[in-house]
Amino acid sequence: MARVALVTGGSRGIGAAISKALQAEGYSVAASYAGNDAAAEAFSGETGIKTYKWNVADYEASKAGIAQVEADLGPIDVVVANAGITKDAPFHKMTPEQWNAVIDTNLTGVFNTVHPVWPGMRERKFGRVIVISSINGQKGQFAQVNYAATKAGDLGIVKSLAQEGARAGITANAVCPGYIATEMVMAVPEKVRESIIGQIPAGRLGEPEEIARCVAFLASGDAGFINGSTISANGAQFFV
Ligand code: CAA
Repeated sequence: MARVALVTGGSRGIGAAISKALQAEGYSVAASYAGNDAAAEAFSGETGIKTYKWNVADYEASKAGIAQVEADLGPIDVVVANAGITKDAPFHKMTPEQWNAVIDTNLTGVFNTVHPVWPGMRERKFGRVIVISSINGQKGQFAQVNYAATKAGDLGIVKSLAQEGARAGITANAVCPGYIATEMVMAVPEKVRESIIGQIPAGRLGEPEEIARCVAFLASGDAGFINGSTISANGAQFFV
């Protein structure tokens, strides 16, 4: 039987590329999304991948959504915590609402996504947890105190989960994308984006598929001894 993979935020951007890459590797894939029904419908129509609507910031909604995925497809073997948002503002202008929204979705959302699948992974002695962090969690970013905090937090999550899951056959790793050609990066003002591209030695934005291939590798049997690690894919913009 095909292994089952859940990708949160899996119908758009990097998440959509991840869903497709895992489908191409033979997984039964479920893609969750928060609100964009039209994009989810188009994605399902194009790929045949089933989409599920819930807010990752809500623990009970996540638990119920994951239970539905497992009822439809079977126990989740691979969970990709990808859903994330930005609410950029210089710190002196950042509001508590902007801080809380990003923490709730990007950081608590990882807890809410992984926690419900963790007991089953422990019982079955197999699991792959892959969290999509960011270059900006590694280096910080002007106007992203909230986002950088969550993405740095992701690295703490996987390093801790790796130690807890290792004996149960579960690996937990992070991928840190650099600036990738997605709606999130395209929303950055053009002048700022051009200056960011100027700081990328590769001279270009990354492609979502370049992140998806990292995830497919971490999900594979070949990556069984890679645990608590971070793959950085950023065109040489930053080294840890
Ligand atoms: N470094 C230093 N200074 C910067 C800066 C930077 N990266 N970006 C902007 N500034 C400066 C501006 O030059 C300007 O300075 P002056 O006032 O002296 O002219 C000042 O900061 C901007 O101040 P404003 O009060 O005008 O800022 P604003 O309230 O209009 O906010 C902004 C603008 C939100 C910061 C906007 O510039 C922006 O979106 N910047 C991009 C932030 C960014 O890189 N986000 C990453 C999004 S992609 C992503 O997150 C995906 C991923 O994982 C990589």
